[in-house]
Amino acid sequence: MEFEKVIRERKATRLFSSKPVEDEKIEKILEAGRLAPTAKNLQPVKIYVVRSEEGIKKLDKATHGRFGAGTVLIICGDKEKAYSRENYSSYEMDASIVSTHMILEATNLGVDNIWIGLFHEDILREEFNIPDNLIPLVVMPLGYKSKLCPPSPFHNIRKKISELVEYK
Ligand SMILES: Cc1cc2nc3c(=O)[nH]c(=O)nc-3n(C[C@H](O)[C@H](O)[C@H](O)COP(=O)(O)O)c2cc1C
Repeated sequence: MEFEKVIRERKATRLFSSKPVEDEKIEKILEAGRLAPTAKNLQPVKIYVVRSEEGIKKLDKATHGRFGAGTVLIICGDKEKAYSRENYSSYEMDASIVSTHMILEATNLGVDNIWIGLFHEDILREEFNIPDNLIPLVVMPLGYKSKLCPPSPFHNIRKKISELVEYK
């Protein structure tokens, strides 16, 4: 897909069909994450791919944000491996960039998606044995939208460029 179209087509999907995402597409999405830039190239990220029936059941205990998707990524930042100085650590930013690469590649491949920030970190941690150095930051359901999927309510609501940008 043309890049500008990817940017414009990406939108939050809140109801997925039962059609599974092909393995090759999952691999390409993960590869897009692997190639993302990170501070000092430390790549302080871990991605869990949840696809098994057991994994999906565990995930559903931690969030209502799966919306029926059969594949869900959990993107974690690694506090121990991230670039840090004084009161700053890059792990959230790095994991966000990796997630953004993946969400755009998913869109490019026609795989619908959503970025979920609302989940119970403690439950996720316990269910998936996530170690203390990893901070789960993004839950990303992937799939194909259901015909009944509601339109994303805020997708067409964006501030004007003049509100966001100031030339100096
Ligand atoms: C950091 C972040 C957290 C989000 N968390 C949630 C969430 O927990 N539940 C949800 O339904 N959507 C969530 N979203 C999706 C946003 O609501 C959505 O991207 C926004 O309303 C714009 O709509 P669009 O993605 O269709 O353009 C999140 C998006 C981001 C970037």
